[in-house]
Amino acid sequence: MCGIIGYIGPNDATPYLLEGLRRMEYRGYDSAGVALYNGTGLEIRRAAGKIAKLDAVLTAEPITGSPGIGHTRWATHGPPVERNAHPHMSGDGTVAVVHNGIIENSTVLRAALEGLGYVFKSDTDTEVLAHLIEELFEGRLEDAVVDALRRVEGTYGIAVISSKDPGKIVAARKGSPLLIGIGEGANFLASDASAILTHTRQVVYLNDGDVAVIEKDRYRVIDIDAQPQRRSVSRIEWDLSEIERGGYDHFMLKEIFEQPRSIENTMRGRLILEDGTAKLGGINLSHEQLMKIDNIVITACGTSWHSALIGELFLEELARIPTEVEYASEFRYRNPIVNERTLCIVISQSGETADTLAAMREAKRRGARTLGLVNVVGSTIAREDDGGVYLHAGPEIGVASTKAFTSQVIALALFTLKLARKRDLSVVRGREIAQALDALPALIEAALKGAPEVERIAEEFKDATNFLYLGRGYNFPAALEGALKLKEISYIHAEGYPAAEMKHGPIALIDEQMPVVFVAPHDSVFDKIVSNIQEVKARGGKTIVITSRDEPSLAGLMDHEIRIPETLDMLMPIVASVPLQLLAYYIAVKRGANVDQPRNLAKSVTVE
Ligand code: G6P
Repeated sequence: MCGIIGYIGPNDATPYLLEGLRRMEYRGYDSAGVALYNGTGLEIRRAAGKIAKLDAVLTAEPITGSPGIGHTRWATHGPPVERNAHPHMSGDGTVAVVHNGIIENSTVLRAALEGLGYVFKSDTDTEVLAHLIEELFEGRLEDAVVDALRRVEGTYGIAVISSKDPGKIVAARKGSPLLIGIGEGANFLASDASAILTHTRQVVYLNDGDVAVIEKDRYRVIDIDAQPQRRSVSRIEWDLSEIERGGYDHFMLKEIFEQPRSIENTMRGRLILEDGTAKLGGINLSHEQLMKIDNIVITACGTSWHSALIGELFLEELARIPTEVEYASEFRYRNPIVNERTLCIVISQSGETADTLAAMREAKRRGARTLGLVNVVGSTIAREDDGGVYLHAGPEIGVASTKAFTSQVIALALFTLKLARKRDLSVVRGREIAQALDALPALIEAALKGAPEVERIAEEFKDATNFLYLGRGYNFPAALEGALKLKEISYIHAEGYPAAEMKHGPIALIDEQMPVVFVAPHDSVFDKIVSNIQEVKARGGKTIVITSRDEPSLAGLMDHEIRIPETLDMLMPIVASVPLQLLAYYIAVKRGANVDQPRNLAKSVTVE
């Protein structure tokens, strides 16, 4: 979602702020701004659109000084125009605030502040914070911030500076990530480690309820009652090269091509081939606890929800445990059957998705044990779950998730293997799965070789207005994910469906204009899906068939064929994901869409 950056130190803040904003642009990119203390007062510059627009504004009208704060926005309250861009200033211009999240009681607060004579210049919920902090200021910025936050309902990650107490940045978090970067003679604040990685690897992750007072050579963390808190320093282990494009046209393409390595990293040191099981150091579940699980609920959003669907099939088939997949946003508002014998698996690339986090907290509240499958180390879900499996896929910058998805499926396979071998699965079958997992990076490599053919197909279908994606069994979630990828980045309407279910509705859509992508490798339901392909062909639909063998039964049924290598049925959706991702990518590029920053989406959605 939105990105926050702050710098305090001996140098001019502007270059640090701009660099940080650029690195976080993938998180929110409809407007941006910076504010800094110029030695006498606060100055701000803002612009609608990408960071480049803000850069141009700063070149035309430079500002210098320290401390400074910056923000890149993903609009919630009010359209993405300059007046709604952050930072927001208080009425007398002495306080500047950037904010991620939503102030739920902003209407009430706004009315009260208007009653006191404050004039609002934006449509945002954030502006109330700026005025409120000014109103409550009595000498120390942190006291005014704490006082203001006590009156606020909602979620926030904020950074505040004031010309009346200029030697500090005050930051606070509740539901929206923030970290302090510890530099030499200078300190940083960011919502995302990538924003400060060129300057320091030492970070302090803030917890919900924390307020940080950051000065150039020290920092302290207090809680909302102004009580001091101890927070440990962590080290960021990944490298800057991982968040650069490395010669690829887009992050998404780079991340698609990284998959042989990223899934290898997910498995590294975890597969035990001879025992046909997996070693997962962080799950914090004893043998007894694993044996006691009665049911599993997997909760997630978006792409992560699709990996959950594959996980459900793994867990039921191999571990024989009743498993349910829930949209995180729905889970918390119903009355799910969850108790202390339930394992709640929470899947999130970012580890920050607000709906997923809330679902996890709800499961915990009901007594379930929680297991997070998360990519971003140190993220909130990873810190609050009872145990976890890090994906180790490396930073994913493209908004449309690719390598995190395949790593999620791998992590689910590893966990299933461990659980199933304790419960129902023979060592022979366990070994077979472990070996197939081990062989997977090479198969992904082979599937990537098909990119030129996928690109040719993309050329033919780039002007389509609708797409249908069909699959059965393990490949039904793959079809859903293929359709999601296409709509996210190309804006073509696409639907995923179980192939056989098509005849109960979507078949009405099929005509000569309708491309239908079949995920139809040679697996146990192959013969069944051939009938579904025939149904589409009989109605003139254009078929793009992802398959794994020369099959006489497919003769004459494929307008286009994409060949992928074969593995166990359960792992086929991982291999099939490669051409599905590439198809979405090439179509979007050919339509001139911004694949890494698709309109209206954000990488990590930290609002409900
Ligand atoms: C956003 C992104 C999706 C992503 C979903 C879940 O909506 O645009 O691409 O799948 O969040 O994200 P998570 O970080 O929890 O996996």
